[in-house]
Amino acid sequence: MKDAILNLLKKSTEDFISGQIISEKLGVSRTAIWKYINILRKEGYTIDSYSKKGYKLISSPDILTYEEVKNIIHTKYIGQEFFYFDSIDSTNTVGKKLAEKGEPNGTIIVSEEQTMGHGRLGRNWVSPKYKGIWLSIILRPNVDPINVSKITQIAAAAMIRTLKSLKIDAFVKWPNDIVMNDKKICGILTEMSAELNRVNYVIVGMGINANLDKTDFNKDILNKATSLKIETNSSINRKIFLGTLINEFEKLYDEFQENFTVTKSIEICKKYSAVIGNDIKILHSGKEFYAKAIDIEENGELVVQYKDGSIEKLISGEISIRGLNGYI
Ligand code: BTN
Repeated sequence: MKDAILNLLKKSTEDFISGQIISEKLGVSRTAIWKYINILRKEGYTIDSYSKKGYKLISSPDILTYEEVKNIIHTKYIGQEFFYFDSIDSTNTVGKKLAEKGEPNGTIIVSEEQTMGHGRLGRNWVSPKYKGIWLSIILRPNVDPINVSKITQIAAAAMIRTLKSLKIDAFVKWPNDIVMNDKKICGILTEMSAELNRVNYVIVGMGINANLDKTDFNKDILNKATSLKIETNSSINRKIFLGTLINEFEKLYDEFQENFTVTKSIEICKKYSAVIGNDIKILHSGKEFYAKAIDIEENGELVVQYKDGSIEKLISGEISIRGLNGYI
């Protein structure tokens, strides 16, 4: 009922809408309407009310509920089921629980804050309230588990397209980071539950450091992490970012769902690669190797060449890469 009232208010932002009309349209008493209006106000909506005129929505809060992003989303299956939280441990962790319960392909989990957000290799992921975009998508691809790492490239390409639509130039640091001015602004964590040759479900988690300030980061990561706000000197509209990302993700994921290929995503990841052509340090099982990044394969593997001329194709898994003089 609360959402239905909000819908009516959103449809008539030019004019007041009377309690009588809301009551007739939704079949609910005027006292109940007043109660829901107050709940909406507590959530951050500014609603004017005059006894003779009715109600008028003045402004909406900066929150990522389905109600606030649904007008931007134009998808067939990604985001059609949408779980919103004010605060949870991790959208990936909740995503796994929901997937186990049978939530369908494309289900989205968004939280304003994560108390135990995590990244690859068990790293902590700083996720302060209302400042970033912390989301996970449940996917149920009918593929061999070996193909699942391709989904990280889809997410990276969708992020790049979303950033481009906001006129922000960013690059992909293979396999799962989006960087700007050589620092990380987004991270992707793809996890799965699978049997030998069958995937039960995949959770692709995306963390976007949208409006974080320097004080939100631990001092020790300030040399490699940043936010869109810090880099562009202006706040990002999180609703537009999230809605666009969901749309772009589905457009690119369609290819994978239909043919198990990611040609378009790889093309984007190569075009905007922060590593191809660079000398890099490969970190694997506590050891360091030096090589030059030369290409990304159709299946998402990074092709590197060592000093002795030998070529190797790296699968993301446990591997991290760095630039020779810093994060990239
Ligand atoms: C990485 O850079 O290692 C990946 C970071 C992924 C962070 C996102 S935020 C939403 C989702 N929930 C998590 O706990 N992690 C991912």
